[in-house]
Amino acid sequence: MKGIILAGGSGTRLYPLTSTFSKQLLPIYNKPLIYYPLSTLMLAGIKDILIISTENDKDSFKNLLGDGSKFGCNFVYKVQKKPNGIGQAFIIGKDFISDSKVALILGDNIFYGSGIRKFLKTSTKVEGAYIFAYEVQDPKRFGVVEFDKNNNVLSIEEKPLNPRSNFAIPGLYFYDNNVVEIAKNISPSERGEYEITDINKEYLKNKSLKVRIFNRGTTWFDTGTFESLSDASHFIRLNEQRQKKISCIEEVAYKMKFISKNQLSNLVHGYKESEYKNYLLNIISGL
Ligand code: DAU
Repeated sequence: MKGIILAGGSGTRLYPLTSTFSKQLLPIYNKPLIYYPLSTLMLAGIKDILIISTENDKDSFKNLLGDGSKFGCNFVYKVQKKPNGIGQAFIIGKDFISDSKVALILGDNIFYGSGIRKFLKTSTKVEGAYIFAYEVQDPKRFGVVEFDKNNNVLSIEEKPLNPRSNFAIPGLYFYDNNVVEIAKNISPSERGEYEITDINKEYLKNKSLKVRIFNRGTTWFDTGTFESLSDASHFIRLNEQRQKKISCIEEVAYKMKFISKNQLSNLVHGYKESEYKNYLLNIISGL
């Protein structure tokens, strides 16, 4: 399975933080935001990853992450000229996807919780499409999914005024290869965007959309507002002070066996003296 991180957009809601560079490069406590969705794909076992950004930020992402080989991965980069909608990711990525299945994660979504690795891994077995459901207090801000007691999807709506359930659809989606053809055939919505919800509605129409529910032990942030950006930073800090780092991509690459201990060691020895380096040195020495 291949993966796409959609890290474009205009970041208007976060102005002036986003006036000179992309939201997905902003810090969430001690790491750039993109580390978090990247680690989610890696935890699903996905190594082949396309990073879609704006023209302005493409080189910054490349400088930050490189071609992925140091993490045992393959990263490629493409530009979305205008934020014409999340559904465009599959058009921009069609050559990259080729005949594979594909997972899409939005560059501002953070997932954390026990058991998530297994949950993600089993999602890569998708036939049709998987969306996820996460119970929230304010579903109006998100895509919303309604489902029955057997987890059959009854409806999906983008930011409904009167939500039919309290379950938001997080920005993580797993698809079979039909997604490329479906994405080609959808039209822009009233707000002029190729909506991910319209792609999912097509799968629903074909009876091949399934929903998987994140349990209460999972934390999900969509860091699209100042409040959620700050909440996510506090959450990461509180957890890391007590336990281990969250979304340390070098650690994830090592734990997923994408790289050996030797490769990790060579990589980390080149790092500047920092708390981050010391953390990784402790991982290497088995502390
Ligand atoms: O976070 C989950 C929600 O994400 C879902 O529940 C919604 O169904 C989905 O539409 C989306 O809603 P948002 O309002 O959060 O979408 P937003 O326009 O903020 O875009 C999300 C991310 O995708 C953001 O980091 C920017 C990036 N993006 C967005 C668009 C529309 C792009 O890179 N290109 C785009 O064209």
